[in-house]
Amino acid sequence: MNIIKVKNYEDLSRVAADIIAEQIKTKPDSVLGLATGSSPIGTYENLVADCKAGEISFKDVKTVNLDEYSGLSGDNVNSYRYFMNYNLFDKVDIDKNNTHVPNGTGDSVEESKAYENLVASMGYADLQLLGIGNNGHIGFNEPCDDFPAATHSVDLTESTIQANSRLFDSIDEVPRKAITMGIGTIMKAKKILLIAGEGKADIVEKSVYGKVIPQVPASVLQLHPDVTVVYIP
Ligand code: F6R
Repeated sequence: MNIIKVKNYEDLSRVAADIIAEQIKTKPDSVLGLATGSSPIGTYENLVADCKAGEISFKDVKTVNLDEYSGLSGDNVNSYRYFMNYNLFDKVDIDKNNTHVPNGTGDSVEESKAYENLVASMGYADLQLLGIGNNGHIGFNEPCDDFPAATHSVDLTESTIQANSRLFDSIDEVPRKAITMGIGTIMKAKKILLIAGEGKADIVEKSVYGKVIPQVPASVLQLHPDVTVVYIP
C-alpha cells in the first residue's frame, strides 16, 4: 500500500487529482470509478481546471459511481447523480452517456443486478476513487459480518444518516437506503485511490494497519495489490 500523508485539504485535492490526471493521460479511455461526498470536491475542482487548461481530456473517459440514495432521482439536488453533474460532468468535456450512477428510483434488487452487470461489462474500474466513512464504510458498505460481494441495496446506519444529514434541510429527509457497489465490485478495480480529509486519521489508520474485518469495511483494501491512501494525519 502506498500511503501519502498531506498537511491540508488543498494538498489532498492536488495529489489526488494528479493521480487521476496521470491515469487519464496514460489511458485516455479509462474507466474511472468515482465517489461523492466532501472529500472529492477539491479533487474534482482540480480536474475541471486541468481540463479547462487543456492538460487532460475526458472525451473518451467512462465513469461508474459507487452509489446512489434510494428514492432520489437524478434531478434531486441531494442525489449523487446531481452531485456528479454539478461538480464534474457538466464542467468537463465528458460524454454524459459514458457516465453511470446507480438508479435510485427503480426496483432496488433489479437495479443492483443491472448495475453490477454494467460495471462488469466495462471490465470494472481502471482506477477507483474512494472516500471513507467515520465507521470505515467505503461506498455504502457499512460495518457488517460478511464483506458484501456485488452491488446491492443497503440500509444506512444511524451514524451515516447523522453524518450525511449536514447536506439535507433536516435529518428526516436523509434516505434510509442506498444502492452501492459491493466490496467485491470495488476490489475488482485495477487501482484504488482512497482519500480522507480532516478528522479521519483514526479510521484510516485502523483500516490500513488494523485487522482485516468486515466490521471495518475499508480494512479489506489491505488485500488489494494496488492501493494509494492519501490522508491528513
Ligand atoms: C460517497 C461514498 C461514501 C463517502 C464517505 C465519506 O459516494 O461512497 O463512502 O465517500 O461517506 O464521505 P465524506 O467525503 O463526505 O466525508
